[in-house]
Amino acid sequence: MTEETALIVGASRGLGLALAEEWLTRGFRVIATARGSAPSLEDLRKRFPDRLEVEHADVLQAGTVRDLGARLKDRRLDVLFVNAGIARSNDKTPVDVQEQDFVDMMLTNALAPVRSVQLLDHLVSEDGVIAIMTSELGGITNSTGFWPLYSSSKAALNMLMKGYAAHRPDDRRAMLLVAPGWVRTEMGGEEATLSIDESIPKVVDMIAANRGKKGLRYLNRFDQELSW
Ligand SMILES: NC(=O)c1ccc[n+]([C@@H]2O[C@H](COP(=O)([O-])OP(=O)(O)OC[C@H]3O[C@@H](n4cnc5c(N)ncnc54)[C@H](OP(=O)(O)O)[C@@H]3O)[C@@H](O)[C@H]2O)c1
Repeated sequence: MTEETALIVGASRGLGLALAEEWLTRGFRVIATARGSAPSLEDLRKRFPDRLEVEHADVLQAGTVRDLGARLKDRRLDVLFVNAGIARSNDKTPVDVQEQDFVDMMLTNALAPVRSVQLLDHLVSEDGVIAIMTSELGGITNSTGFWPLYSSSKAALNMLMKGYAAHRPDDRRAMLLVAPGWVRTEMGGEEATLSIDESIPKVVDMIAANRGKKGLRYLNRFDQELSW
């Protein structure tokens, strides 16, 4: 059987780094991107020198994503996973937020991930998986108002991905908006309910379970559909 390949965009730390480690442990070849120095990723490369490739991309700089696509033009991906995201002004409202924080989240969490998918999707095999890390907080129906500005950026991400999928009715690939649960990372904070080990292996199982299932779904780590 040929080796499977996953490209993870935004893998310097936190959930992206954990996704890289999990797929490497399962025997995948992994191409992991960072936008700056990524010591943890370099440590991981020492453990998996033959199967981990570290690449550069900043999702806010479309040119770096385009260049990545050009460097990888002869590769075939089984999984493309855009993980990059930020959280700013979590407890603020439209009245007291620094507007730039909201703009930065809309660009990094909504526009840039879907643009990255559009710039890299030609690398993904016909039965591969295209995934973006969203959040349970991106669902409007069940929102409690927690982290309202960040949540809005993830709702916008979900909407942009809906548009992406709607324009590709004949695409056979699985397109997944992935909600990992509330996880203890720099972003999630210490009060988050899950460890990385309680989330990421389930996310990777869920991605595998969706391979070959055409179309867009908004899913949690248990492979359950969430309300939009
Ligand atoms: N933790 C949670 O509870 C939770 C829950 C739901 C969803 N999520 C989502 O899961 C993803 C990962 O979150 P996390 O908890 O692992 O956060 P994190 O520890 O803060 O890590 C964020 C990652 O995104 C990268 N990133 C940020 N801006 C980028 C850019 N412009 N270009 C490329 N990479 C960029 C960071 O790279 P640098 O090191 O260069 O900053 C880092 O690798 C995010 O999309 C987040 O919204 C997290």
